[in-house]
Amino acid sequence: MSTLKAVRGTRDLLPPETALWNRIEATARTVFARYNFGEIRTPIFEDTGLFARGVGEETDIVSKEMYTWEDRARAQSEKSQSLTLRPENTAGVVRAYIEHKLGETGQLQKLYYIGPQFRRERPQKGRYRQFSQIGAEVIGPPSAGSESPLRDAEVLEMLATLLDELGIQGWTLHINSVGSAADRARYNDTLRAALAPVASQMCEDCQRRAVTNPLRVLDCKVPEDQPIIDALPKISDSLDLESKKHFAAVLAALDASSVPYTRNHRLVRGLDYYTRTTFEFTHGGLGAQNALLGGGRYDGLSEAIGGPKAPGIGFAMGLDRLVLTIQNQLVQNSAPPQVAQLVDAFIAPLGDAKNEEALTKINAAALALARELRRAGLSIELGDGTFRLKKSFEAADKVARRIVILGEDELASGILTVKDFASGTQTKVPRAELVSFLSS
Ligand code: HAM
Repeated sequence: MSTLKAVRGTRDLLPPETALWNRIEATARTVFARYNFGEIRTPIFEDTGLFARGVGEETDIVSKEMYTWEDRARAQSEKSQSLTLRPENTAGVVRAYIEHKLGETGQLQKLYYIGPQFRRERPQKGRYRQFSQIGAEVIGPPSAGSESPLRDAEVLEMLATLLDELGIQGWTLHINSVGSAADRARYNDTLRAALAPVASQMCEDCQRRAVTNPLRVLDCKVPEDQPIIDALPKISDSLDLESKKHFAAVLAALDASSVPYTRNHRLVRGLDYYTRTTFEFTHGGLGAQNALLGGGRYDGLSEAIGGPKAPGIGFAMGLDRLVLTIQNQLVQNSAPPQVAQLVDAFIAPLGDAKNEEALTKINAAALALARELRRAGLSIELGDGTFRLKKSFEAADKVARRIVILGEDELASGILTVKDFASGTQTKVPRAELVSFLSS
């Protein structure tokens, strides 16, 4: 029979690597708390219409990459419904904002999320079909200050702080403004006109995009096309005065906080909901998939999915890519490889494999001892009464700092033998003193 494997583009994460994932998530939660964000958890699947209307029918994500199925009705009262595994979380957060009438609080909602997302992309290093994002959104009625450029700058300053606290060196913040929906439409027309005479000299994808979605030409990576693209009109020239002022205020606030950035006229991003500020943080060590995170402002998204006016700004970081970056850095700095943490002690029950009754008794006593020590806060690995002493020592040496021997004699006397692997010393410890002895 053929063996079953994890599906293409999905992976198992195993210890000790998962410890790094947990550390990153814990750091993010701590930083978010300092900026007064609270956690939101939305469902992993949603009505397909949410992404079609929110992210945009024409985007690659919606047109090619979603995991969508027709969910059959199970009862007369139900209708069959098209459902989709979430390819991103912003649309879900805004749906929840509308559904729970969070706008009626009159306050800015500052929400973060950590969780898996799904896109049927071509898998490669740093790009998976199930991947994890850490993201956050700031959204609310305009009266709560949700449109203010200060929100944009604060989010970007928080990201710079978070990446620094994660120890990620050498990131670059690329920033742009795509203006209002009207500015973007105007720019699309300008681009279409500018591309008409030159598109035939470009790659096949660009020839198609020049007609269907000219903005996407700016994402092209084909080297021969670059001089043509660099000579195209810039979106900054299509912005109205309000959008220009907004962007200038964002940049001024970043300057005041000494957050370094690079203006990137080509950063238009692949999701339709963006307005005004758009940004990405990249890292050179990642190769082709070099975007550590991306985000921007989406002032019309709530209305696009049937909600009240609720401007917002947010971002999502690729957790898989953060992990890769940190692992690369550890290798470069020739840090020791990640090793599993040793537990405080290994309890080795010494039984007689042939005497079932005695074996059961010593194993049971070992579990009771392990429970007592773990409840006192110690980390404990538990052996087995069938192990010979040599095997217990070998097993313990791999995972624990010390071994605690529990045989018939120890059980009767209440005095346990503890060996410390680092120092090689062996000590007799009364059971009542074991917790404090092992805590040292
Ligand atoms: P996005 O640029 O599509 O934006 O994704 C954000 C980040 O998720 C990327 O920069 C990348 O690090 C990671 N990512 C995306 N696709 C994959 C993949 N297939 N494998 C591994 N990592 C991936 C959004 O998702 C927006 N919702 C961000 C946002 C929030 N904008 C406003 N608020």
